[in-house]
Amino acid sequence: MKKNILKGNDLISIDQLDKNIILSIFKTADKIKKIKPKKALNILKGKVVALLFFEPSTRTFSSHCVAVKRLGGQTIEHQNPMQTSSVVKGETIEDMIKIMEQYSDAIVIRHPVAGTAQICAKTAGIPIVNAGDGIGEHPTQALLDMYTIYEKFKTLDGIKGLMVGDLLNGRTIHSLLKGLSFFKNSIIYLLSPKVLRLSKKELDEFCRRGIKLIEINNLNDIPPDLHFWYWTRVQKERFSDKNEYEKLKLSFILSKDLVDRKAGKKTLLMHPLPRVGEIKTEVDNDPRAVYLTTQAKNGMYVRMALLKMILE
Ligand code: NCD
Repeated sequence: MKKNILKGNDLISIDQLDKNIILSIFKTADKIKKIKPKKALNILKGKVVALLFFEPSTRTFSSHCVAVKRLGGQTIEHQNPMQTSSVVKGETIEDMIKIMEQYSDAIVIRHPVAGTAQICAKTAGIPIVNAGDGIGEHPTQALLDMYTIYEKFKTLDGIKGLMVGDLLNGRTIHSLLKGLSFFKNSIIYLLSPKVLRLSKKELDEFCRRGIKLIEINNLNDIPPDLHFWYWTRVQKERFSDKNEYEKLKLSFILSKDLVDRKAGKKTLLMHPLPRVGEIKTEVDNDPRAVYLTTQAKNGMYVRMALLKMILE
């Protein structure tokens, strides 16, 4: 059997993985999905995972939580520790992590400051999973997004997609582009307000990695028959000027008319969620729309696979 290199390790950036590891996570997720785990699988029996969420979360928190529980493990849950933990009294994140290490077998952390998950990984002697660090990365989201595309098209080579919205601040975008760069011949069309484009540095970096990035200027420029459209919200919490946010937030809206005009028969309509108006609810019942269904549910299976591989 091949060595499981995730075992006992942190997951801070998708860059710690490679094509083979990603495919082995998908294989594990497939197996778990087939068992349809109504009952806990006992894989994490006796293990405790601490969930420390310093930023709001619905899916990432709940799916990690349910992933642990469906695998037979238990959780310590701190949502909003800025108000409910000793951080209020001035405790440092390093001290909090050292304490959680005494109680648990792994820590899943979300934090508003990019780089914090890395600091925690240096501090802790147990695995740290980055559940989103500011505008940095969101590696588990990229894994579930890639798994959703892989499940549909049976490959991640030669994938053509569209990414729309806040490409500058969206950590899901950053991790997804990095993840896709492990596979061959991707072409990704990018559509965002001018001030929310990927930075020049990132554009150059991704080109160097072999992804072809093509910036387009409006919805009419979307080419036909893409494998996926990945819509994102403008990240309000990253704006110091809220008027600027208001001006930009609905720059590009995914409507039924747009889907009818521009999507292919098999184009996956994706969004990491939450959406705040940029996808009209009239799109929700389209069979190609997976953001409220398959994509979100795959988050649970992929996180089960990941936690199994890190903790077994
Ligand atoms: C994303 C995040 O937190 O980065 N949400 C998520 O985890 N599914 C996207 C977002 O908040 O816009």
